[in-house]
Amino acid sequence: MNQPLTRRQMLRTACAATAFVGIAPRLTRLRAAEPAQYELPKLPYAFDALEPAIDAATMQLHYEKHHQAYIDNLNKALADQPDLRSLPIAELVRGLVPGKSPAALVNHGGGHLNHTMFWESLRAPRADNRPEKSLSELIARAFKTFDAFREQFTKTALGRFGSGWAWLALDERQKLIIRDTLNQESPLMFAQQPLLGLDVWEHAYYLKYQNRRADYIAAWWSVVNWETVAARFDKATSK
Ligand SMILES: [Fe+2]
Repeated sequence: MNQPLTRRQMLRTACAATAFVGIAPRLTRLRAAEPAQYELPKLPYAFDALEPAIDAATMQLHYEKHHQAYIDNLNKALADQPDLRSLPIAELVRGLVPGKSPAALVNHGGGHLNHTMFWESLRAPRADNRPEKSLSELIARAFKTFDAFREQFTKTALGRFGSGWAWLALDERQKLIIRDTLNQESPLMFAQQPLLGLDVWEHAYYLKYQNRRADYIAAWWSVVNWETVAARFDKATSK
């Protein structure tokens, strides 16, 4: 049978309730401060936004499965290093050296960053898609003409044997260069600043283009978001 609470017991119960109310926000803060995990960034458009250049099925698979897998594997590789998981992904990747750093970080850290940059640098197709004047002139100055740049970039992307990326980047002296990288390596791992990357892994185009990488590249030019590229250039050169 329940005994009536004494005055002392009632005070204790009231104090405990007050204490819990006081501690609850702290518990919420503690939960919020749990070790960081890399997460899939929100796609800035619908899966079918890049049609017909890049089809919706490829976009969904590429983003939800391939990109997510890089993130999951990166978090797994850093399971015991919460301090590294709290770094912005570009900072983590900048510190990696292919052949010297753990392969899991190069592959999955690079994979996460490269795909994040890839989504950001695409938009709905435009006919005669070119950068605005100032970036267009800078590219033309570096590669003779904008069309010559496009031709050289395309050749680099086609020539990337196996899986990898083609890039427009800034070298250590902030000169515009075109290069390719193997698998998920990033120009950041070579002290270069990536401005525009093209994914030439088969998973990026096989559903629609099968083995026709050249057709995929030709269509990709119509969906390059040159405003993103110009913003990256401005940020990199204003430091
Ligand atoms: Fe990819």
